[in-house]
Amino acid sequence: MKVVTSLSAWRSARDLELSSKKTIGFVPTMGALHAGHLALVKKSKAENDLTVVSIFVNPTQFNDPNDLKNYPRTMAEDEEKLRSVGADYLLSPEYQELYPDSYRYFVDESEFSQILCGSSRPGHFRGVLSVVMKLLNLVRADRAYFGEKDFQQLKLIEGMVEAFFMKTKIVPCATVREQDGLAMSSRNRRLSAQERELAPAFYRILTTMKSLDEAKAELGRLGFEVDYLEEHVGRRFGAVKLGAVRLIDNVAIGGSTS
Ligand code: PAJ
Repeated sequence: MKVVTSLSAWRSARDLELSSKKTIGFVPTMGALHAGHLALVKKSKAENDLTVVSIFVNPTQFNDPNDLKNYPRTMAEDEEKLRSVGADYLLSPEYQELYPDSYRYFVDESEFSQILCGSSRPGHFRGVLSVVMKLLNLVRADRAYFGEKDFQQLKLIEGMVEAFFMKTKIVPCATVREQDGLAMSSRNRRLSAQERELAPAFYRILTTMKSLDEAKAELGRLGFEVDYLEEHVGRRFGAVKLGAVRLIDNVAIGGSTS
């Protein structure tokens, strides 16, 4: 696996690879990689000649400076994991290079980005869409892989790609869960042992409770602080806090377990 940090080195590598007409699959991440991320990389490997993974903890999508500061950074382990699944390139750009405009320019959406995580994290999706636009333009992949774990993000990125006639096909990937049902997340490693034991109740309640009111009451009783619990586009979406850690999840209403 080639590790590339400078954008000019990436452009040369890409031009060389593209000259041999290889298809490129792209998996953007913020690192602290787990089996959920690796499932995206494996899917990309299966469907493309080359797989590029990016690791960039994107400051513009963090509305809480403490969350940004505490976001886990595990580059050495991440590199090892990516090598073990056979990624071809790891792109880890610096802020200055990725934001030559100091974030004067951005991409935003005005409807679906305003609810759920958008209303509790102002500016979050503007930061996500802007960095994904930059990365998609730089990588110029045939396909890019995004998890349903962040369903609102996935839908907004699909919409952006359609709205701006971008060439990359967005491929959705099912949520990968721990055996006890907890959706894998880089933030899970910040849970205390006691919080980790409680955390799978979030998914269980999301899938089993008949009404949102019932689910909210049960989560509150167990010690979760509910940020939102809402149903949209045939799915039930939730965000909760366990201590200082914010967890999100979503499930299809009426059956699917992913
Ligand atoms: P990050 O949280 O690192 O996630 C990177 C990708 O992995 C996203 O597409 C996310 O949905 C997917 N993912 C995370 N956990 C998953 C799980 N348990 N199962 C399946 N897929 C999972 O999402 C971001 O980074 C950033 O917002 C990013 C798109 C990279 C822009 O900065």
